[in-house]
Amino acid sequence: MDRPTANCISITPTGASLAADVSGVDLSQPMDAASFKLIEDGWHEHLILRFRGQHLDDPRFLDFARKFGELDKAPIHAGQLVEDPFPEITVMSNIKVDGKSIGNLGHYEAEWHTDMSYNERTPIGSLLYAIEVPPEGGNTGFSNMYEAYDTLPAALKRRIAALQCRHDSSRNSAGELRKGFKEISDPREAPGAVHPLIRTHPVTRRNALYLGRRRNAYIIGLPLADSEDLLHELWAHASHERFAWYQVWKVGDLVMWDNRCAMHRRDAFDPASRRLMHRTQIKGDKPYFDSATVAA
Ligand code: OGA
Ligand code: MN
Repeated sequence: MDRPTANCISITPTGASLAADVSGVDLSQPMDAASFKLIEDGWHEHLILRFRGQHLDDPRFLDFARKFGELDKAPIHAGQLVEDPFPEITVMSNIKVDGKSIGNLGHYEAEWHTDMSYNERTPIGSLLYAIEVPPEGGNTGFSNMYEAYDTLPAALKRRIAALQCRHDSSRNSAGELRKGFKEISDPREAPGAVHPLIRTHPVTRRNALYLGRRRNAYIIGLPLADSEDLLHELWAHASHERFAWYQVWKVGDLVMWDNRCAMHRRDAFDPASRRLMHRTQIKGDKPYFDSATVAA
């Protein structure tokens, strides 16, 4: 039977533009509906939640994640076991066994991005759980795209309300060309989904600046130089540190982000140290802008 735990849970904002710590909950234990509601509401309010000191095996991790919705299957990658018992877990790691990477993203820097925005349907969010962390580096930054949108000059808000951006699918978060894709020299030729620059969050109804990745992005219908100028201006604004908060990982941290209204990035770290995370991703929806959310 579920134990009543909601009255033990507290949610403490970090004081930065986004993110809050959730304490008083052991995610390996069953959770009652009131506790889950508190957590889900806190996630929508703070965009990023951090739970420290957790002890989760893959089944418990997946049990918690599934409360937020159906999970995506992990993409197939080199080094993956043939019979993977948990296809909804992606390993993020620089560790090599017998010369083969056991996970994704290596030790490199990952620039600001939204996950998989190059697809028509994009993930709602992800949960990342730290199993091994390097002594330094490998911090993950998150930034608040509601606030980035809210603080744009009014004329720029009006201008981008009618615009859509194509999100390049040819490169991954570490900037590497994906298998089977060719090098793009003209952003107008990049493959990938087209989404509005302003995204209305389906739950909170707030608008967020929806950028994806800078490289090879293209604003549909504009001359290339104008698209580049506008993207430069939007990215310079959105990358401002005042919208950001950094997670410095400890073993047992679980961090979840809302991929509809927050971007993230990762610092590089020493390739000689080990970093091992398990990650799972909540299946997503098609981004849209509801113009009724802005006053005429
Ligand atoms: C991701 C990602 C950053 C990290 O999992 O999508 O960008 O800190 N990870 O591993
Ligand atoms: Mn990512």
